[in-house]
Amino acid sequence: MSTAYRKNQTIKDFGEQWLRYRDSGGFYGSMELFSDMIYPFLKSSDIKNCKVAEIGSGTGRIVNMLLEAGAKHVIAIEPSDAFEVLRHNIQQPEKVSCLKIKGEQLPPYGDLDYVFSIGVLHHIPNPAPVVEAAFKALRPGGHFLVWLYGKEGNNLYLALIRPLRGLTKRLPHFILSSLVEVIYWPLVLYIKFCYRLPLPLRGYILSVLEKMSPQKRRLIIYDQLNPSHAKYYTRQEAEKLLLDGRFKNVRLHHRHGYSWTVIGTKP
Ligand SMILES: C[S@@+](CC[C@H](N)C(=O)[O-])C[C@H]1O[C@@H](n2cnc3c(N)ncnc32)[C@H](O)[C@@H]1O
Repeated sequence: MSTAYRKNQTIKDFGEQWLRYRDSGGFYGSMELFSDMIYPFLKSSDIKNCKVAEIGSGTGRIVNMLLEAGAKHVIAIEPSDAFEVLRHNIQQPEKVSCLKIKGEQLPPYGDLDYVFSIGVLHHIPNPAPVVEAAFKALRPGGHFLVWLYGKEGNNLYLALIRPLRGLTKRLPHFILSSLVEVIYWPLVLYIKFCYRLPLPLRGYILSVLEKMSPQKRRLIIYDQLNPSHAKYYTRQEAEKLLLDGRFKNVRLHHRHGYSWTVIGTKP
């Protein structure tokens, strides 16, 4: 499959996904989760009165978190059919500009304080142009914060999910949603075992997944199985992504031992 095909197919996959899973309520859309995502580099209070962008906004949960943190203005980028859900879900529309474009088309504003991209770059086969667009949109001294799937800490999970995804990314919704039901109940059991045993992904399970509603746990399973492209980054690859994009002072945090929060500054 060519890079262009995987890129467009992934956008199509998310458009269909978010038209079915439109809601961002509960812990999934909470400030508690937002603080966890930007820890240890930022606090939500750092965003107060700032001009920010989010690349790959999906249904708008991060946009609403940024608004709740006090952002002055948010530019929300979403290329898929989820755009209509995004516009519908936004809580303070007068403070948001929604753009139905790809990340690499983010205009070179040059005055943004922060650009965020949470759970997006690992779904883009060639993310370098997106990193470049984020760099151009920031003011000197502005920061780019990304969250990526990690390779380290996910060995067992990847051994299971990779062969499964070979099939599931091609399945129509009605079969995939039935498969999600099949996986859901063993997952509930696994969460219970994590309380007592040092099982793989325990940090993520107890700090994040356990706090999600049943509906959001099902969405998370679906989200793992559905997109055409998903890359799991090593620490070195995650760091290189921002260093190659000319960012300085690049720092990484191994979030819950399974993913990378990465921040860099435009000099
Ligand atoms: C896993 S979702 C994350 C949504 C949101 N950031 C969140 O955390 O709820 C990934 C999003 O990235 C979007 N996306 C995929 N390719 C993109 C691209 N080239 N540029 C911008 N966004 C893209 C998808 O349409 C999807 O909505």
